Amino acid sequence: MTLIVALDPPLEEDPIKWSIGIIEKTREYVSGFKIGLPMLLRTGVDAVKQLTAATGGSSVIADLKLADIGFVMSLSAAALARAGVRGVIAHSFVGVRDALDALKRTCEREGMDLILVVAMSHRGAEEVMTPVVDKLLGIAKEVAPWGVVLPATKPRLIQRGRRILGEHIKILAPGVGAQGARPGSALCAGADYEIVGRAITRAPDPADAVLRIRKEQMEVVKTC
Ligand code: XMP
Repeated sequence: MTLIVALDPPLEEDPIKWSIGIIEKTREYVSGFKIGLPMLLRTGVDAVKQLTAATGGSSVIADLKLADIGFVMSLSAAALARAGVRGVIAHSFVGVRDALDALKRTCEREGMDLILVVAMSHRGAEEVMTPVVDKLLGIAKEVAPWGVVLPATKPRLIQRGRRILGEHIKILAPGVGAQGARPGSALCAGADYEIVGRAITRAPDPADAVLRIRKEQMEVVKTC
């Protein structure tokens, strides 16, 4: 399966109840779920155990976009691992030495997947990140994480990432749906997974939205 659901609960909802509701409706059709800092700030890491339990085998990755010294990023990653979180997202721009090298060791020790952000979809990404994308891809190549994040809204960056990183590093692509990219378009460019949030979680029927997105992914992939 090639779909990961981003769980970003609305402020007026109970974040755990809301998330479990979406997980129960969609878990059989998706690879996993992505949680973020807004949820973790509201619930604390211990409550995340309820989410990891509810997924019934799908994986939960924590999108904290860590960007600190290795020692501190490792503390965050280890706390998440102990709540059953399978993967953690960090920024690549902090560099390898005393930063991502230490985080990688921690992830290996905790049995966790490390995922690095190398490009982003928002307009501000053009100010710093996109102009140095090759440098960030170089850092990712050196760290050799489980996966990287490249935006579905910039398929040429996905193609470039795939060329530079080779076949063994997974590419996760957010930006499908609410941010405009078509389901399947990032897969065509070389991504392994598309990350979709609001187009599923804010749909009147999230399970139906997942099935429609999967169908469109399959149709688009046939044409690429
Ligand atoms: P939506 O609701 O827009 O949610 O489908 C997308 C999810 O993905 C994250 N996101 C990004 N993460 N680079 C990233 O590392 C990006 O370009 C990017 N765009 C969206 C966002 O945090 C949300 O959870």
